[in-house]
Amino acid sequence: TNTPKAVIVIFGATGDLANRKLYPSIYRLFRNGKLSENFAVVGVARRPLTNEDFRNNVKNSISQFEDDNIDPDKFASHFHYHPFDVQDLSYYQSLNTLLHSLDEKHETEGNRIFYLAMAPNFFGTLAANLKSEGLTSTQGWSRLVIEKPFGHNFKSAQKLNNQIREAFDEDQIYRIDHYLGKEMVQNIEVIRFANAMFEPLWNNQFISNIQITSSEVLGVEDRGRYYESSGALRDMVQNHMLQMMALLAMEPPIKLTPEEIRSEKVKVLRALKPMSVDEVEDYFVRGQYDRGIVDGEEKPGYREGNSVDPDSNTETFVAGKLTINNFRWAGTPIYIRTGKRMQQKSTEIVVQFKDLPMNLYYDKGEAIHPNLLVIHIQPYEGITLHLNAKKGDYGTTSTPISLKYNNNDNNDKMNTPEAYEVLLHDCMRGDSTNFTHWDEVALSWKFVDIISQAWENKKAQFPNYESGSNGPKDSDALLEKDGFHWWSVTPEEE
Ligand code: BG6
Repeated sequence: TNTPKAVIVIFGATGDLANRKLYPSIYRLFRNGKLSENFAVVGVARRPLTNEDFRNNVKNSISQFEDDNIDPDKFASHFHYHPFDVQDLSYYQSLNTLLHSLDEKHETEGNRIFYLAMAPNFFGTLAANLKSEGLTSTQGWSRLVIEKPFGHNFKSAQKLNNQIREAFDEDQIYRIDHYLGKEMVQNIEVIRFANAMFEPLWNNQFISNIQITSSEVLGVEDRGRYYESSGALRDMVQNHMLQMMALLAMEPPIKLTPEEIRSEKVKVLRALKPMSVDEVEDYFVRGQYDRGIVDGEEKPGYREGNSVDPDSNTETFVAGKLTINNFRWAGTPIYIRTGKRMQQKSTEIVVQFKDLPMNLYYDKGEAIHPNLLVIHIQPYEGITLHLNAKKGDYGTTSTPISLKYNNNDNNDKMNTPEAYEVLLHDCMRGDSTNFTHWDEVALSWKFVDIISQAWENKKAQFPNYESGSNGPKDSDALLEKDGFHWWSVTPEEE
């Protein structure tokens, strides 16, 4: 469906996110006929640029798409630039004048998206000034899209939230967690609730544990400054990992509305078993990468990176055991693991089913493999079901086999929507299902705050894993204590 007419105002228009993700996503929506003809984009940033400079930037950022049907100049003609200083009210007034003139020019009916793709220090001020200078009161609707980090802990997140709530109602606020825009993350719900065969088994009676891994090969690269104040816990766990967990563990919603789905996710977050600061070390493991060989190349350690303290206590790896205290999950752990500079780039969910009550069959004399349901989030997208079957031999032997669905098959680059494209489209249509509500953000921070407190109190023995490895040994020990191990399930390149 086409999106409504609107002006999208991007704060941070010369930044990395805008160039790498937002302009290409807007282009793809346009190219795929999902954008109304009546749209305009206003790029806002400190740098003085002309419309022409800005349009050239935009054309550069979409030059990866070769497409004879679309004239890049025509696409770029929807883009306008406005220099800006967050603190100076006169810029808000001139921006408002521009928006009104664009409403007329592109017939956008006063609908506005304010997209904050910039450093978070000014989120609060910006939201307040947008309101005080009258930019949010238009004839149409106005929405605020806000990137992470949404605060640094519960307290600062709450402060930020109060600030933006002065200017926008909760239902006007779209907090981005780009994992929620990923095709296979959205598939978690469909796999669970559109198949009769999983939901009856989806509980502590039949599932022994769930493992969510998101590993990256890249290091912190040139983001040292941001990362030093964040670490993997705030960068990945507070948002992406806990969101995937909530989708895996929630009860079936009574309807597929944003409110119903959210309220189920919130219940899961509320059921997370709280830890005391002293207990954190029993449930969570942190790591920091050392030098090592990645793809045949020697890479420096985290502490050697730009803008990183040579004695840094910042974690680049987290593994943890989550316990959900409700009837469905009590006793079945959900393990999460995420890290930079690991062996491979992959995000995967493994649902491990319990062993049979007794073994009739053996695999070469050993106990047979447990059944696994694997949801491959990225870069390989698909579903694999690991079963046991007879393969040739007589008698009591069984062999592990797998049923595979590969979602990348037959998908060309243009047709698989990218996370940002999906989320922008949702926001323009006013669908907040795949954005995080304040209640979810608050509960996630409260959980994560305990862990960061424990870690700030005690200096870690860093570095403790080699670049190109699977993280520190303690991460394996965390599962071994419970009689499990991390599954390595990424399919070989086919
Ligand atoms: C971001 C983090 O939210 O997610 C990055 O800030 C991380 O540090 C990125 O690299 C991972 O996203 P993806 O889509 O590449 O898995």
